[in-house]
Amino acid sequence: MVKIAPSLLSADFSCLGKEIEDVTEAGADLIHFDVMDGHFVPNLTFGPMVLSAIRKYSPLPFEAHLMITEPEKYWKNFADSGADIIGIHIECEINHRELIEEIKKYGKNACIVINPPTPVEKIYPLLDIVDEVLIMTVNPGFGGQKFIFDVVPKIEKIKETKEKKQLEFDIEVDGGINNQTVKIAREAGANIIVAGSYIFKSKNYREAIESLR
Ligand code: DX5
Ligand code: ZN
Repeated sequence: MVKIAPSLLSADFSCLGKEIEDVTEAGADLIHFDVMDGHFVPNLTFGPMVLSAIRKYSPLPFEAHLMITEPEKYWKNFADSGADIIGIHIECEINHRELIEEIKKYGKNACIVINPPTPVEKIYPLLDIVDEVLIMTVNPGFGGQKFIFDVVPKIEKIKETKEKKQLEFDIEVDGGINNQTVKIAREAGANIIVAGSYIFKSKNYREAIESLR
């Protein structure tokens, strides 16, 4: 059974609390919170204060997808604001293993995120310690982009490696997901599906979420 994670990036920011209640009610499994710093990606979104203000609107797990150059400086702020899963990019110049261990020691789940142009082999050394692998299916920064089909073999490779090594992590995809592209992602091995514009621009959140399962 796949899990569906609506990305708040495409929600109505003037009523985030209500949007979160609505997708929770509509059957979402977790809430995806996209953090952008204007450096790692050419866009800005929200920080830990917004997360702590909206946290109470849903009992679901929240995941903070940190598209920021210095995740080691800020991840704890998101953890303390109510994020249950912390996603850090392999493209950041940090000691990933150390940071992931720190996140886990703090009682949170750790996710390694990889951009479309980055070779999938880069994350192999971390697969034994992560709870989740997030394979970006668009270049991060904006909602509403087109699914990059070239990324699909990466999902397959991660799934293959996971099975071969009998590892436990979840495989998540993010970007350009709709009721068609989701089939390709699921077939390749994804079991957590992030969708922003497809869900929040739809008329019926429940139907949109169900159509991704
Ligand atoms: C993109 C973000 C995504 C974004 C996806 O940088 O990481 O989570 O919200 O949006 P859609 O589903 O519209 O492509
Ligand atoms: Zn995201």
